[in-house]
Amino acid sequence: MPVIDVEDVEVEFGHGANSRLALREVTVRLDEPRIGVIGANGSGKSTFARLMNALITPTGGSVRIDGLDTRKQAKEIRRRVGFCFTDPDNQIVMPTVAEDIAFGLRRRGLTRDQIQARVDSALLAFNLSDHRDHPAHLLSGGQKQLLALSSVLVTEPDLLVMDEPTTLLDLANSRAVSQVIAELPQQVILVTHHLDLLEDFDRVLVFADARLVYDAAPEQALAYYRGLVAP
Ligand SMILES: Nc1ncnc2c1ncn2[C@@H]1O[C@H](COP(=O)(O)OP(=O)(O)OP(=O)(O)O)[C@@H](O)[C@H]1O
Ligand SMILES: [Mg+2]
Repeated sequence: MPVIDVEDVEVEFGHGANSRLALREVTVRLDEPRIGVIGANGSGKSTFARLMNALITPTGGSVRIDGLDTRKQAKEIRRRVGFCFTDPDNQIVMPTVAEDIAFGLRRRGLTRDQIQARVDSALLAFNLSDHRDHPAHLLSGGQKQLLALSSVLVTEPDLLVMDEPTTLLDLANSRAVSQVIAELPQQVILVTHHLDLLEDFDRVLVFADARLVYDAAPEQALAYYRGLVAP
């Protein structure tokens, strides 16, 4: 598993009177396979997730993935860390479903047949085989979410960071995604408001008011979070 080292991180957006601290004094070292991130709206979860692949760099402190500094080695880090957005429209870049999945495999030294084989198995794993040559933008919200996940997973990242990937999914697809996550060999960081997804996770981080306020096994962390909401 990659080792994630977050050291005294602060993230400030904006300047002067309009500035806002989205994260403050966050220090944590993560090397477990399954890490959940929970907390109220605006508590800093997405900001934390985006630090992992250098979508956001800290304004104070540092984030290192296996020793690589997200400020200095963003390119290497993005090869190892896959990121899945909440809104799949942010992520779909090619006209058809199969082309979108194949897009992430360019410039990796794979043959056309190898790319085809990987795309086919990704389509199968995410129930998208029937939509292979359909325009990606015409998929339903949930199908787009599945496409976004497969487009990231097909690149076989060492760490997969997902920011609320099941928000748009129906019960069956939400279970399917949960099952896929459970079986992934990769390290996973999952930001979610669907607390039941985290039952079998190794560790859950709770954010509140821009701080990491609790860090424990799922049962304790979920109880702590529920306590914050209804003390
Ligand atoms: N690009 C940005 N510019 C300015 N402020 C931002 C930006 N991104 C986030 N923020 C602010 O940082 C704080 C934390 O936002 P963040 O998106 O990390 O919260 P979150 O925990 O993911 O919330 P949610 O559960 O609603 O997704 C919020 O107050 C938000 O307004
Ligand atoms: Mg968020």
